[in-house]
Parts: sequence; structure tokens; C-alpha cells
Amino acid sequence: MAKKRKSKLEFDKGWQYDPAPQSAEPANLRDRYDLFIDGKFVKPAGGKYFGTSNPANDKKLAKVAEGDKRDVAKAVRAARKAYEGTWSRLRPAERGKYLFRIARIIQERSRELAVTESLDGGKPIRESRDVDLPLVAAHFFYHAGWADKLSYAFPGRKARSLGVAGQIIPWNFPLLMAAWKIAPALATGNTVVLKPAETTPLTALKLAEIMQDADLPPGVVNVVTGAGATGEAIVHHPDVDKIAFTGSTEVGKLIRKALAGTSKRLTLELGGKAANVIFEDAALDQAVEGIINGIFFNQGHVCCAGSRLLVQESVADILIRKLKDRMETLVVGDPLDKNTDIGAINSKDQLRKIKGYLKIGQREGAEIFQTSCSLPKRGNWCPPTLFLNASQSHRISQEEIFGPVLTAIRFKGEAEALSLANDVRYGLAGYVWTSDVGRAHRLGRSLDAGMIWVNSENNRHLPAPFGGMKSSGIGRDGGDYSFEFYMETKNICIAMDEHKVPQLGV
Ligand code: NAI
Ligand code: MG
Repeated sequence: MAKKRKSKLEFDKGWQYDPAPQSAEPANLRDRYDLFIDGKFVKPAGGKYFGTSNPANDKKLAKVAEGDKRDVAKAVRAARKAYEGTWSRLRPAERGKYLFRIARIIQERSRELAVTESLDGGKPIRESRDVDLPLVAAHFFYHAGWADKLSYAFPGRKARSLGVAGQIIPWNFPLLMAAWKIAPALATGNTVVLKPAETTPLTALKLAEIMQDADLPPGVVNVVTGAGATGEAIVHHPDVDKIAFTGSTEVGKLIRKALAGTSKRLTLELGGKAANVIFEDAALDQAVEGIINGIFFNQGHVCCAGSRLLVQESVADILIRKLKDRMETLVVGDPLDKNTDIGAINSKDQLRKIKGYLKIGQREGAEIFQTSCSLPKRGNWCPPTLFLNASQSHRISQEEIFGPVLTAIRFKGEAEALSLANDVRYGLAGYVWTSDVGRAHRLGRSLDAGMIWVNSENNRHLPAPFGGMKSSGIGRDGGDYSFEFYMETKNICIAMDEHKVPQLGV
């Protein structure tokens, strides 16, 4: 009698990867980090420090200075002096040389930076090593190349830098967000006061060391660590010309209110609730990989995460089965293990928020599926979670959870899919899986989202615009789009002789 073949799931469950840990040693952390102001590491005015820890085991990693208003004022003064005295006067090609140098040092120190990122933030080393760090260097290289070519970004117009940029960034891509904000600001001739998130300050401080190593003139980049109050001090400082913020929609709104009536420029990159729309004519296995990457990558701590699954009824059962099977194979655990797919949730607060939504979803009547993976005893963990039979009005279908939690809803046809996809307050990203090119174009046009991927997931060319509509933000980052925010464009009209003197028709 023929032996019954094991299903893929049974087979997958029968074996496990051996541990493949990356050593924490290359992080080479100091016990204490000061503020980086005017090219030097300096003590905070109030003498206060806060701890940053490893969310995978709650161990303290280092003490970090808590900057207050006085420190922010000092940093803004240094940035202004550097702007007026050096940076805005430098030949653009010289600015480019500094950025190239920074990019190369980042590459040289990339292991140290990747390990630090995973220790401080909880993301798997595979991501910080293979995604974050290459992109961090790429941003500096990319913008270095623009520094002396800015006139091509503004054909027919003249542009000049704004002055001092205040940049406030979150904890989901700490170093990448720092690079994303600093590189275009410097390329366009601005100086910077950056505030990293309080749970992930370490790589920004290492970037400050790199600025020193690159001999960047003092004051061009300043890093002031601290929590919300430090960010607020930057937002309210009268001598800051521009605020660039990535984070929650709630704080984004506060900043927008605070800047109303001032002449400060503002860019906001806020939350999302992107729909992953799967049609019956899609390549389902490929779509499953896209869904998995879209919501479980970086523990779902991604603003454009495909956190809603909209699946056509005719293929819903088979797609959900394939998705559950694939979810079962995901390895949750030590971020420093090279086989880990899902690392630690960034903070206790964030874990509390996610767990709150797990309860809310069940109370609202959705059916919960979580994989049978084992979770480490210490640290902040959430298994990959799928909510089935959710309705559009459920909070888990409307609100940003920012964790490895996917909400699935079925639809009948294209019109219903579109209306469900657009019926949220966010408009950052959208994903469409179909083999019908006409449908791809129709949805591409009609989805309310700043970025739409068809049969692909969150792969982005650096010059492409990144940003959202509705409550997901204001403006676009990326390529020459970033320059619109860091530069003032001018129309210069010079009356030439031929305009003044009547033509004699020689
Ligand atoms: P948050 O918006 O409070 O933090 C982001 C940054 O803003 C941090 O550097 C923080 O110190 C700073 N900040 C906080 N309050 C501020 C204020 N009043 N003025 C100026 N700066 C301020 O985000 P949080 O509380 O860490 O996360 C809450 C939720 O926000 C998450 O669950 C997620 O839904 C969303 N979020 C979205 C992100 C995105 O990439 N779009 C990133 C991080 C969080
Ligand atoms: Mg930390």
C-alpha cells in the first residue's frame, strides 16, 4: 500500500533550523552616550540620562543623554552658525564629497551598525544587515550624487536651501530614517538637528561618530536624544526653518497645529492601513509571499505594511489555507539569529498596544489564528496573527496596529474591493495582485494611496516618491521630491537689453 505523503505543513513542522547566532560583540557599545552638538559629544544641560534596552531580553544596553530645551537651543545655534558660516557657502561638489565619505564609512562599519540596530530595536539581523544598512549607505551615495546637480532638479527655476532643519524620527527603521532625512537635507545645503526615538537612539549616535570621522564641519549635523518633550522643543524653536517628522498620526497632528501660523515648512510621514487586494486571477503563491513580507517583515512595524488582506471570495479558502501554512513556517525569536523571521516588538508600550488590539478584535467577533511557534520567556513577543471574518467597521480593520497582525476580509468583485480598500482614514500604500493588466491600471488610478504596488511588495527605487495622502501625511520623500522640502524655489526675472531696447530689425 502506498504510504500517505506528508503535507508540507507536517513536513515543515518536523524539523527546525539550528541556532545561527550573530555575536553581539561587533556593536561595540559604550556605557553612556552624550548629545552630539557642534561636532562634539557634550553632556546634557540637565545632567539627565535615560536607559535604552534590548527588547528581546529587557537587558539595558546603554545610558543616553536626555536633551531639554536648553540643549535644543544650543544645537539650533550650532546648526545656524554652521549653515551661515560654512555649509551653505560650500561649493555643492564639496558637500557631495562629504556625503560620499559618510556613505563609505557607513559601509565600513555596517556590521557594527546592523548589530546595534538589531540589539536596540529588536529587528532580525537578516533585515538590518541585508535591508536597512545597504539602504542607509545607498541614501548617502544617492544624495551625494545630487549635490552638484541640483539645478537639474529645478529646470527653469533657481533654488536655494532653507536653513536649519529639525528632524524627528521613529523607532521602526532608526538608522534608515536618519539617513533618509539627513542625506537630502545636507545635499541641498541645509544643516540639521535630529532627534531619534527614545527606544532606539544608538545607531543615530553612531552616525554622529561617523560625521566626526568624516570631518564634517561642526554643527552641520547635531543629534539631540530624548523623548517627546525634546521633539516638541525642536518643533517650537523659533530659529528652525523646517520640520520633517515620521511617526504617529496623533503626533503629526500636534506638530501641524503647533506650526500653524509660522513660516516653518513641514513634511509628515505618518501611519497607514494598507490593503493587500488579492483577485482570483492572481498568482496565489506569489501573493502569499507578498502578504507575508508585507505584514510580518520587521514585526509589522512598517508604515506601509499591508495590514489588511482583501481577498476575492472565489479563492479565499485556498489562499487562507496557503497563508496559514506559510505563517506556520515563520521563525519568531532572537533578533541576532540569522534564521529569525520575526524579531522582538520594539517596546513594552507597543506590545501593550498590539495585545490590546488582539483583545479588541476577538471582542468585536473576528476569529483569531496564531501560529504554534514557541516564544522566548523574556522580552517582547507577538506571534504572527491573522484575524478572519472581520468586518469593515471593526477597529482592527480601521486602525493602525503596527504589529504582526493581519486582518482579512472577503469581497465579491472589483468595485467592492475598491470601496473596502479606500474606506479607511489612511492613504499611504496599496497592493494589488492580479494578472489582468487593465485591472492593475484601474486600481492603480483609483486607490487612495500615495504608493501602489502591483504583483510586488514594497520594493522601491530611491528616486520614486514615498509618502501618503489623507491621514498618512503631507508631501513626498525620495529623489528630487525631497528637494522640494529642503529648498526654496525662486523665479528670477532679469530684464535683458533686448527686452528694453526696441528691435531695429537689422
Ligand atoms: P510617536 O509618534 O510618539 O514617536 C515618533 C517620534 O516622535 C519619536 O522620536 C518621539 O520621541 C517623537 N515625539 C513624540 N511626541 C512628540 C511631540 N509631541 N512632539 C515632537 N516629537 C514627538 O510614536 P510612538 O508613540 O512611538 O508609536 C505610537 C504609534 O505610532 C505606533 O503604534 C504606530 O501606530 C505609529 N508609528 C508610526 C510610524 C511610521 O513609520 N509612520 C513610526 C512609529 C510609530
Ligand atoms: Mg532600545
